Amino acid sequence: MGIFSLVLISLFTFAKAAVPRATSNNCVGTISSLSDVSAAVQCTTVNIHSFTVPGGRTFSLDLLQGTTVNVLGDIQFGNATWKGPLFLVTGQDITFNGNGQVFDGGGGYYWDGLGAKGSTKPNPMMKIKMSGTFSDVHVVNSPARCFSINNVGPLVISGAVVDDSQGDYPNDKSNGRPAGHNTDGFDVSGNDVVIRKSSVINQDDCLAINRGKNIVFEDNYCHGGHGVSIGSITSDVVVEGVIVQGNEVVNSVTAFRIKTDKTATNSRVSNVTYSGNTARNCSSYGLLIDQSYPAVVGTPGNGVAISDINFNQGSTELSVVQDAQMVAVNCGKNSCTGPWDWSDLKTSGGKIGKFQNTPTLIGYAAPY
Ligand SMILES: *[C@@H]1O[C@H](CO)[C@@H](O)[C@H](O)[C@H]1NC(C)=O
Ligand SMILES: *[C@@H]1O[C@H](CO)[C@@H](O)[C@H](O)[C@H]1NC(C)=O
Ligand SMILES: *[C@@H]1O[C@H](CO)[C@@H](O)[C@H](O)[C@H]1NC(C)=O
Repeated sequence: MGIFSLVLISLFTFAKAAVPRATSNNCVGTISSLSDVSAAVQCTTVNIHSFTVPGGRTFSLDLLQGTTVNVLGDIQFGNATWKGPLFLVTGQDITFNGNGQVFDGGGGYYWDGLGAKGSTKPNPMMKIKMSGTFSDVHVVNSPARCFSINNVGPLVISGAVVDDSQGDYPNDKSNGRPAGHNTDGFDVSGNDVVIRKSSVINQDDCLAINRGKNIVFEDNYCHGGHGVSIGSITSDVVVEGVIVQGNEVVNSVTAFRIKTDKTATNSRVSNVTYSGNTARNCSSYGLLIDQSYPAVVGTPGNGVAISDINFNQGSTELSVVQDAQMVAVNCGKNSCTGPWDWSDLKTSGGKIGKFQNTPTLIGYAAPY
């Protein structure tokens, strides 16, 4: 070998060694089965192809910071009697592109009309702990609660679908009741969460905020189910800074609700603004603020302070069925403090409900 070639080889080797280590993650990982996951998550692009996750196993993605995930095929989850979750994603600054691909939880195998109180079910189905953006993921047939959000940093969810419409029908285990039960769309316990342009067809809360600050729920569609809820609120939690706007709530038990446990202490719900929402055909309540949970408009507790609950900055129209109540406010002694600006709340269709320990409601003309 001539000296010239030797120099070339050394130069080449040197150039390779000099490449910064970080770019070793600048690769594309491919997942077509669970056994591909551990290698694929070493790359900052992860492509997921269609496959079936074996029953009893979590499809768990623990991603490098800044990873982009592309879902390129439908994901089925095998049926097994266990607690789940079926899917878990962790990581910071993630771009998760669901591309409208379907995650099928196999609900029909589990549903018995009893939800969490019945047989053991994967609950929740989808655990979201990442920050970043989570887009266009379509879930069908969640065994019980669908998305549980417990994010490590700011998170924007958009274009998500939870379609548990098959759970509206009875099956051979549900004794004539709708088979799906406790199929919450989104359960949020985290700060800085935006959920937008998503839709939920289910048999329980469309959204339930259990704790967190700076949460936006906008331009979503909720069908069936129990509507958009803050709570139930337990002891020692804070919900603060919530915007609920531009949503459409259809055929639900309640459109908007704040429910706090009767026995809860040392908690607070403050600064919640509803605007530009519509709800139609609510079967029990348009708006319900109730401090007696688990009772419904029972004897209220007063250990959760509720303040700054406003319907302003754009009209919210709630229409309920004839026997339903348009609005009920059931607060404990001195635990709801106002005034609240309800000048953009319009209600129609039903009766006016109970008003107990209610602060001054500016602009709401109901005979309470
Ligand atoms: C799980 O059971 C449901 C309901 O019977 C069925 O639709 C689904 O295909 C099953 N999932 C798999 C992966 O076999
Ligand atoms: C109320 O919450 C919104 C949304 O998080 C926030 O922008 C606003 O500053 C809060 N207002 C007060 C008085 O804290
Ligand atoms: C109203 O909602 C109920 C379920 O609460 C549903 O059975 C009924 O079909 C709905 N009516 C219309 C007109 O959509």
